Amino acid sequence: MADLEADLLARIRTHGAVPRHIAIIMDGNGRWARERHMPRPFGHRSGMKTVRSVVEGCLEAGVEWLSLFAFSQENWQRPETEVSALMSLLEEFIAREADELKRQGVRVRVHGDVHRLNGPAAAAVDRIVSVTAGGTRLGLNLFISYGGRAELVRAAQLLARDVQAGRLTPDEITEDEFRARLFTADCPDPDLLIRTSGEQRLSNFLLWQVAYAELYISSVLWPDFGRPALYEAICDFQRRDRRFGRVTP
Ligand code: IPE
Ligand code: IPE
Ligand code: MG
Repeated sequence: MADLEADLLARIRTHGAVPRHIAIIMDGNGRWARERHMPRPFGHRSGMKTVRSVVEGCLEAGVEWLSLFAFSQENWQRPETEVSALMSLLEEFIAREADELKRQGVRVRVHGDVHRLNGPAAAAVDRIVSVTAGGTRLGLNLFISYGGRAELVRAAQLLARDVQAGRLTPDEITEDEFRARLFTADCPDPDLLIRTSGEQRLSNFLLWQVAYAELYISSVLWPDFGRPALYEAICDFQRRDRRFGRVTP
């Protein structure tokens, strides 16, 4: 491990609570490729390697949940060549990583409108979820073909069905009942939301869940966001004063 990385990790371990759940909008692959006069999929391939480093960083730092925005509902509108390159990379990532993730105790879940995935990509997704199902060290949520508004609409539909079937009355619809119908029902809300590449927007990611997340915008493009950058973000998080609307004593 490089000196900088070891120093940052030591600082994290002595500086208080580590975020239990980190969410990341992995952005900037296209610009990274363009800087190198390469086609966009070259950046996506390089970004795939960053996922491995960040998973390892979370395991080292003791983070319990990692949520990665890999492909948005809106990303279906990109050119067909880019979409198919991304689907092939997803299959390649799963073929390469599934066994190692299982060995490391990582439990993968995939959230989004996965019915839109092609046959091989959908099969790969099923495979990684079942292979890693027993993992207990880190929960890795991959958001693929995902949109935050669609997730909220889906939760509303599930509630409406329960009301229609007489399992719930309208007055019994509480925040907890709503939350229980989100993809992330079984994990805590993200404490820290990181977006790479300097963009300052949510782009329809986890609209409900990030209500009180600490935001961290990194100017680094995703393919260059390694473990040191992750540790810097965690150190920054540890300096925040989270008040949740109250006053600090
Ligand atoms: C993020 O990188 C990956 C996906 C959205 C799939 P981009 O492809 O958005 O890269 P930029 O923003 O064009 O640089
Ligand atoms: C958000 O990035 C989606 C993912 C990282 C998967 P985009 O690059 O698609 O977002 P916009 O278009 O800049 O808002
Ligand atoms: Mg982008």
